[in-house]
Amino acid sequence: MTAPVAAPPRVEPVTVKVALDARSYDIVIGRGILPSLGARVAALRPGAKVAIVSDENVARLHLAAVEAAFADRGIASSRLIVAAGEGAKSFRVFEQVCEAIIAARIERGDLVVALGGGVIGDLAGFAASAVRRGLDYVQVPTTLLAQVDSSVGGKTAINSAHGKNLIGAFHQPILVLADTAMLDSLPPRQFRAGYAEVVKYALIGDAAFFSWLEANWREVFAGGPAREHAIAVSCRAKAAIVARDERETGERALLNLGHTFGHALEAACGFSDRLLHGEAVAAGMALALAFSAQQRLLPAAAAERAMAHLAEAGLPTRLKDLPGGPPALDRLMELIGQVKKIKRGMLTFILARGIGAAFVQDNVDEGDVRAFLNEKLAGQ
Ligand SMILES: NC(=O)c1ccc[n+]([C@@H]2O[C@H](COP(=O)([O-])OP(=O)(O)OC[C@H]3O[C@@H](n4cnc5c(N)ncnc54)[C@H](O)[C@@H]3O)[C@@H](O)[C@H]2O)c1
Ligand SMILES: [Zn+2]
Repeated sequence: MTAPVAAPPRVEPVTVKVALDARSYDIVIGRGILPSLGARVAALRPGAKVAIVSDENVARLHLAAVEAAFADRGIASSRLIVAAGEGAKSFRVFEQVCEAIIAARIERGDLVVALGGGVIGDLAGFAASAVRRGLDYVQVPTTLLAQVDSSVGGKTAINSAHGKNLIGAFHQPILVLADTAMLDSLPPRQFRAGYAEVVKYALIGDAAFFSWLEANWREVFAGGPAREHAIAVSCRAKAAIVARDERETGERALLNLGHTFGHALEAACGFSDRLLHGEAVAAGMALALAFSAQQRLLPAAAAERAMAHLAEAGLPTRLKDLPGGPPALDRLMELIGQVKKIKRGMLTFILARGIGAAFVQDNVDEGDVRAFLNEKLAGQ
C-alpha cells in the first residue's frame, strides 16, 4: 500500500465584495478553490445550467477540472472553445459565442462562464450582456491580469477595425472565482505582464502596498500566500473604485495610470506579442511618473523608485527597452492623440504627486508631453 499523498495546507479563501446595490457580487480568491465552483454557482442560481466559453490553451489545461466542478453538483454544462489571442475579440467570434450560447439553450436564470484571461472575459462577458438582452455570467479568470483587473468591474468588449474595445457594454458578473493555482501554468512573461497592473494599484493609492510589493514580489511570483494577498489587495482597490464610479465618470479614470502612454506603445507595436498589454502599461507608468517628476509634481526619487521596482520584476521601463526600438516622436504623439482626444492642445493624463498618490490631470499641454518624450527619446 502506498501512503496517501499529503494535501497541501489549505488557506481559507479571501472574499472581496464589489458593492453595487442589486448588482453586488463576490470575488473569491484562493489557491485550489476551483472545485468549489459548482457549489457556489448552485447556491447563487439553483437549477441553472452553464455555457462555458474558453480558449484552446486554457481549455487544454483547466477545462476538465471546471467541468468536473459543475458535474459534481449535477450542473449541466456545454462548452465553446475559441482560438487563443486578441483576435477572438472580433465580430466573427462574438457571433459564434452568441450562437453557441443560444444553441445550448441558455436562458434567463442560466449562466455563461468565462474561463480564461482578459480576452475570454471580455468576449464572453459581452456575449452574456447581449444574448436575450442580458444573461448572468461568472468569471473564472486564469491570468494574473484577469484576476486583478479585467474580471472585476464589468467592462466587456470586442475590438473594432477602428480600435480596441470600441464595441462593448458594462455588464457585471454575479461571481468572480480566482483560483491562484491556475496561474501556475501561465507562461512567466504573461505573469510578469499581469504584475504591472498589481503595481498600478499600489502606485495609484496605496504606498504601504508598494513597500510590501518591493519586499514580497518574489513570493508573489513563486506562488506562496503572498500571491493571494497581492491579488486580494488589488481586487479590493479596484472594487472600491468601481463601487464609487461604475461607469467611469470620474475617479475610475485613475485605473488608467500608465495607459495613455501604454496604449500608444501597444498600438505602435500593432497590439501584437511584441509588447504585451502589461509590459506597455509598465513602460507607460514609468513615463507617467517621469513626466510627473519633470513637471515638478512628484519628487524625482519617487519616480526612480517606482521604475526600479518594475525593472527589478523584469518589466520594461524605458523607451529603449521596447522590442524593435521606440516609435518616432511624431508617431508617438499621433498615437497618444488617438487614445486621448486632444482638446485645444490639451490632454488628460493620470499623474502622481507621490507613490500611492495618483490624480487625474486635465489640461496637460500637448507641447509639454512632446518636449518630454523628445527628451526621453534622445537621452535615456
Ligand atoms: N475588461 C476590462 O476591464 C479589462 C481590463 C484590462 C484588460 N482587458 C483586456 O484583457 C485582454 C488581455 O488579457 P490577458 O492578458 O489575460 O490575455 P489573454 O486572455 O489573451 O491571455 C494571455 C495568454 O495566456 C493564455 N492563458 C490564459 N490563462 C492561462 C493559464 N492559466 N495557463 C496557461 N496559459 C494561459 C491564453 O490562452 C493567452 O494565450 C485584452 O484584450 C484587454 O483589452 C480588459
Ligand atoms: Zn491595463
